[in-house]
Amino acid sequence: MAQKSPKPLVAGNWKMNGTTASLREARLLAGMLKGVRLKCEVMICPPATLISTIKPVFKGTRIRLGGQDCHGQANGAHTGDISAEMLADVGCGAVIVGHSERRTDHGETDETVRMKAEAAHRAGLIAIICIGETLAHRKNGETLAVISRQLAGSVPEGANAANTVIAYEPVWAIGTGLTPTTVEVAEVHASIRTKTDPDMRILYGGSVKPANAAELMAVTNVNGALVGGASLKAADFIGIIKAYA
Ligand code: PGA
Repeated sequence: MAQKSPKPLVAGNWKMNGTTASLREARLLAGMLKGVRLKCEVMICPPATLISTIKPVFKGTRIRLGGQDCHGQANGAHTGDISAEMLADVGCGAVIVGHSERRTDHGETDETVRMKAEAAHRAGLIAIICIGETLAHRKNGETLAVISRQLAGSVPEGANAANTVIAYEPVWAIGTGLTPTTVEVAEVHASIRTKTDPDMRILYGGSVKPANAAELMAVTNVNGALVGGASLKAADFIGIIKAYA
């Protein structure tokens, strides 16, 4: 496949999955990527508890580490939270912000997400900003309006192609095995593109599997994938990476 510009990113979001036993999958992935000529960047966002343990496993590979969330402040009295500076300190190069599970479980608003993205930039991390419509939005024909509102509210002023990635993740496609049609994906990505730098990566996320990765990657303005469930097994994740390689 001809190389797409900008350089695609395939990021695995392990969510609240993984203990030290999962190092086995991390080692398998590192091994499988040896000798593979990659045309995409590869990242794993493990739970925060595993970042330091996985770091040596990925040393010398091209797999980068990312966090799954960060607080807007650099430090302070915020029990249980983790700052962007802390993620940078343990070797992360990026952090996911505004994932729909955070927006739903923790009531995060576009404004919270924007502050988190600003925190990521302040710490020198790439902010992977997630946006996406619910099934009700889609059924009501509100998808593009919702996406536009989320972009306007969640993406900070200083965002550029070097420090920000947008991840379009329809809420109804996450963990369900359902995906929008490629026409629907193209429509949303084209709409996002009109509001972003031409070199800013726009990932698609939501039930990306080895079987549909190539088809999704071929869509105009899809510059990679944010992968949940299928990133937990090295054999599945490598299947997705190869669709981009
Ligand atoms: P999924 O999750 O691949 O399991 O659908 C995607 C995500 O939430 O990033």
